[in-house]
Amino acid sequence: MDQYRVFGNPIKQSRSPLIHQSFALATEQVLNYEIQFAELNGFNEAVTEFIAQGGKGANVTAPFKEQAMAMCDELTEHAKFSGAVNTLTFKNGKIYGDTTDGVGLVNDLLAHNVCLENSRILLLGAGGASKGVVLPLLNKAPKSLTIANRTVSKAQAIVEQYTNEPLSACSFEEANEQVFDVIINATSAGLTGAGLPIAEKLITENSVCYDMTYGKELTPFLKKATELKAKQVIDGLGMLVGQAAESFYIWRGIRPNVDSVIAKLKSSLFYRYKF
Ligand code: ATR
Repeated sequence: MDQYRVFGNPIKQSRSPLIHQSFALATEQVLNYEIQFAELNGFNEAVTEFIAQGGKGANVTAPFKEQAMAMCDELTEHAKFSGAVNTLTFKNGKIYGDTTDGVGLVNDLLAHNVCLENSRILLLGAGGASKGVVLPLLNKAPKSLTIANRTVSKAQAIVEQYTNEPLSACSFEEANEQVFDVIINATSAGLTGAGLPIAEKLITENSVCYDMTYGKELTPFLKKATELKAKQVIDGLGMLVGQAAESFYIWRGIRPNVDSVIAKLKSSLFYRYKF
């Protein structure tokens, strides 16, 4: 049976086996997908051993996405821009790397009928999670994509990777003075419960608010958005399932339906996770 893994540290919390086994069942693909813990200094060794055992592919989660990129023989353009890899494919003695997080986000936004074309998008945060979604968002031809971060230089560094794109960086204070159609929280503030320094006027009845964090309860950002009567409030569960669906497609050539898996996960959430 074809074997797949998700490598991480910690990894016990991962929903990926449930998601991929559900996809396999629904698409009649015969495969096995398991979690695999790797020591902080043992990621390369663990992957190499899995390849030697005949592993077909793997997902990679924190903190190994950069190390995974360094192991690859070939990378997609998107992975290069992201500086991280979450999907490895082992074929003909080579390691192929891609990142599916951004496509997962965009597909989830589109599934919620959020219009990205010609929209003014605000991305909060400039860590790994933000970097991974910039190119797929730009590919949807927004009017503008603004990255706001507490440490503005990190947002500027992302912007400098691109040329001829409607992309800019700013502080939260500067973002608070502008108008946006779609606001995406990619900071890790939602995990700790910390509030973001966003002004009430930033969120209006025309705003779509998306949080890459997901959990049983609304995140602080989405709670605030709900109080301010945002037009739409969406958490990152669909992004989680969407990125898995893209990995599944890369490996198996079939794009599974995500709706039933999202519903299944929704009923089993107890904690808050960041995508
Ligand atoms: P990830 O890979 O999940 O993106 P990361 O690379 O550590 O994690 O990035 C975390 C992001 O959340 C950063 O943009 C961070 O801002 P800084 O770059 O200024 O550190 C942001 N962040 C975390 N806690 C925050 C808070 N309480 N308020 C605002 N931004 C926060």
